[in-house]
Amino acid sequence: MKQIHLVKLLFIRMINILRNTPKFIFLTTSSILLLLTVIPLYYPNLISYSSSYFDLKLGCDIFRGEWIWNPEATYYTNATCNYIHDHQNCMKYGRPDTDFLKWRWKPNDCELPIFDPVQFLELLRGKSMAFVGDSVGRNQMQSLMCLLSKVENPVEISSTDEWHFKRWKYTNYSFTIQTFWTPYLVRSEQEEVNGPTNSGLFNLYLDEFDLKWTTKLHQFDYIILSAGHWFYRPAMFYENGKLVGCFYCLRDGVKDFPMSYGYAKAFQTAFKAINSSPKFKGKTYLRTFAPSHFEGGTWNQGANCHRKKPFKSNETQLEPKGLSLYNAQMEEYRVAKEEGKKTGKRFRLMDITPATLLRPDGHPSSYGHWPQENVTLYNDCVHWCLPGPIDSWSDFLLEMLKTDK
Ligand SMILES: *[C@@H]1O[C@H](CO)[C@@H](O)[C@H](O)[C@H]1NC(C)=O
Ligand SMILES: *[C@@H]1O[C@H](CO)[C@@H](O)[C@H](O)[C@H]1NC(C)=O
Ligand SMILES: *[C@@H]1O[C@H](CO)[C@@H](O)[C@H](O)[C@H]1NC(C)=O
Ligand SMILES: *[C@@H]1O[C@H](CO)[C@@H](O)[C@H](O)[C@H]1NC(C)=O
Repeated sequence: MKQIHLVKLLFIRMINILRNTPKFIFLTTSSILLLLTVIPLYYPNLISYSSSYFDLKLGCDIFRGEWIWNPEATYYTNATCNYIHDHQNCMKYGRPDTDFLKWRWKPNDCELPIFDPVQFLELLRGKSMAFVGDSVGRNQMQSLMCLLSKVENPVEISSTDEWHFKRWKYTNYSFTIQTFWTPYLVRSEQEEVNGPTNSGLFNLYLDEFDLKWTTKLHQFDYIILSAGHWFYRPAMFYENGKLVGCFYCLRDGVKDFPMSYGYAKAFQTAFKAINSSPKFKGKTYLRTFAPSHFEGGTWNQGANCHRKKPFKSNETQLEPKGLSLYNAQMEEYRVAKEEGKKTGKRFRLMDITPATLLRPDGHPSSYGHWPQENVTLYNDCVHWCLPGPIDSWSDFLLEMLKTDK
């Protein structure tokens, strides 16, 4: 049968992609089941078999496409936006090229309109939105605030001075925006400053809510949930209060798990917090994993990102660890979304991974600080220059909000 044959082909292709990482193979059973149902509709490229189309009623998958030249950009500068953190202020630190600002995302089968700040604020009049995650989540929020600054600058209404939990209000639209710092989504603490890779060793309580955000959930209409690069660091995994294993802790007698183990459990717990919150009536957007683009080494040992233009979708693929995180979060998302139906909780998938993978040119690299400064992330290929490609995440967000009404 044709269908079976295609699935087989695809399976072989996946195995090829994953051949360096045998741990993935067991994951693919469920993926194959899934594929059986979607193959007739859709021949996925590298990472799309994990599916954004489940959420889309329109017949166009806005998350699959290419970057195309757009000389009209950009839509703000470091002079017009006050919310750019120094580390992402690439122009301030002398980034010489500007071509990386001049691309827009073109989905294969439709158009994705450029962000319209008035339309966004009108849609969200009277609403509140929280960005829950790490500094890339905050980077996304700052990009959105920069795009909105054309229309209105918000007043700060934070109850704390700490950037990690800041809150603003757009008074003319009664729209509130807040950031929550929770890089692991679950309760966590630093166990060692250095650890085996000089990037810290963290205790993750994988089944415990991080109360700093989970107790505030009900105040929001939209939760933009994300997590990523912190899971690349060594971590001790606790469940039921007991140490069950670790990721790369290099300790005798402690079982070593793949990093996706902690990532999957963390999302499981975060989704559980959402699904079990009686007072939360909002929508949860999972903003998927945003790949970094280090080349020529590891992130804290000389690697950098020098590219000056986007990849075509056939020119690159997600590295195995990133793919394992992406697949793990998709799996947990699907489970949580089903579970949420029982209690009327709504989930949406903001699958920025494929588009973001193609933008090695959008990171601060060494332009997030002065050359003589000593900073931890010397060449930053994780965060995104502002303005920069991350601004397109707001294009996706608005399009989803519009089609979601
Ligand atoms: C903005 O970038 C320019 C270089 O393009 C730099 O001279 C200036 O200091 C920056 N301004 C701010 C407020 O960061
Ligand atoms: C709110 O709208 C009024 C009237 O259009 C305008 O004058 C004012 O500057 C706006 N406020 C902000 C904070 O943008
Ligand atoms: C990728 O696709 C483009 C067309 O979009 C084609 O011109 C190019 O040759 C392809 N490159 C590779 C490496 O397959
Ligand atoms: C930066 O760090 C290196 C190594 O830790 C040290 O030798 C150097 O003096 C530091 N430079 C500055 C400007 O602090």
